[in-house]
Amino acid sequence: MDTDYFQHKGIYFASLLYSQERLQYLENKFHVRDDDVYIVSYPKSGTTWMIEILSLIHRNGDFTWCREVPNYIRIPWLDVSGIGEKLVDRCQSQRFLASHLPVQCFPKSLCSSKAKIIYIARSPKDVLVSLYHYAYMSHVVKNPNSFDEFMEDFLQGRVPFGSWFDYIKGWLQMRDNKNFLFVTYEDLSQDRRGTIKKICKFLDKELEEQAIDIVVEHSSFSSMKNNNMSNNSLVPDYIMDIQNNHFMRKGIIGDWKNHFTQKQKEYMDKIYQEKMKDLDFKFSWDVNL
Ligand code: A3P
Repeated sequence: MDTDYFQHKGIYFASLLYSQERLQYLENKFHVRDDDVYIVSYPKSGTTWMIEILSLIHRNGDFTWCREVPNYIRIPWLDVSGIGEKLVDRCQSQRFLASHLPVQCFPKSLCSSKAKIIYIARSPKDVLVSLYHYAYMSHVVKNPNSFDEFMEDFLQGRVPFGSWFDYIKGWLQMRDNKNFLFVTYEDLSQDRRGTIKKICKFLDKELEEQAIDIVVEHSSFSSMKNNNMSNNSLVPDYIMDIQNNHFMRKGIIGDWKNHFTQKQKEYMDKIYQEKMKDLDFKFSWDVNL
């Protein structure tokens, strides 16, 4: 199946799941409610992981919801047309929704609301590697010709949701807002328990230690990989070919080291430094550049 993109505000979106009409509606007419919680991320940054964690926190550590209901029904995708739209409309308060929208495309009504945003970010080198593999299994990212070419497309923003650099810089404008929480994939990998507690605090959810234990256990890579409601194996095959691939691929920090040549590393570091030089913010992955 051919993968088509269209451009909206100069950003690529996959025609299979997104539409101009939906994007325009979301930006200008969608009503953000004060008690909404949004998971926002650039693709391949740990969105599915955060969906699992929020599902478990929302149910105070009761994991039956995660064992019985697919993740895209528990926490629907705001941006997706068709089925996504219906799931969002059916969602009752308190709504937990996921979105890959860049900040300039997000519903404007966010500004006048008290809704909470949990932004999950990941090292762009690992995002690139994860997206490269995902491109072979999914029909929403064009099949790469080579890793080198795909890296160039990624660095130039010729992939769905555009430039990683613009995306994160856009959302980080909200970083001083008390309703915005910035979390990284690396935080979750290195201190899942501490990060989960931080998320609970942000959501004003007081969970007993035993409930936190359950959230930690059921959001592990192996637990999610073995749970068909969480590993995306129920996503229809016109979106993803799950026969020959696993959405839950490796789940590690630093897989880029197994893919990049020294030349590619130096090239990406150079672009990274150029694009991020004006941002007054330090990331955990900066030290490993
Ligand atoms: P890899 O391809 O590097 O394995 P998203 O949900 O934003 O598309 O991100 C997908 C990435 O998050 C994949 O990375 C996937 O394996 C990883 N992931 C999902 N759940 C995880 C978990 N519980 N622990 C570690 N990584 C996880």
